[in-house]
Amino acid sequence: MRRTVLVFMALLCCAAFLSTSLIMAEAQGDDKKGKAFFKESCKSCHDKDGEGGEVSPLNKTMSQWERYFKKGVHNNKTEKLEDVAPVDQLIHIQTFLVNHAADSDQPETCG
Ligand code: HEC
Repeated sequence: MRRTVLVFMALLCCAAFLSTSLIMAEAQGDDKKGKAFFKESCKSCHDKDGEGGEVSPLNKTMSQWERYFKKGVHNNKTEKLEDVAPVDQLIHIQTFLVNHAADSDQPETCG
């Protein structure tokens, strides 16, 4: 009987652990993919001489990027970010920009 309870508890712990890591995986994009998508979908307008002016992770702090993506509006609030890049890329682009923001551990310009 005691053994059954132990096994049950162990299973419960596993389930709890698995579900939290799944939730975190969902909310968190992939840094490397984000960098590639940033180049693909943003750099065309945000290079040094681009029409949108230069944009790199260093333009904002981590919390400023988070807020920017939460609002989701772009180009002086004239359009949605979703209209600029595919929705499934945005989570990764956000992760890249946040991870390398001006006040992050690894600040980075987009080379
Ligand atoms: C078709 C061109 C174009 C693309 C593609 C583009 N942008 Fe922009 N972006 C602009 C223009 C134009 C502005 C306005 C610049 C200004 O006001 O000086 C802008 C402004 C911005 C700003 C400044 C704040 C704001 O929204 O006004 C940020 C940050 C930004 N873009 C990020 C991005 C990101 C991230 C991507 C890729 C997901 C992206 N842009 C893709 C043209 C573009």
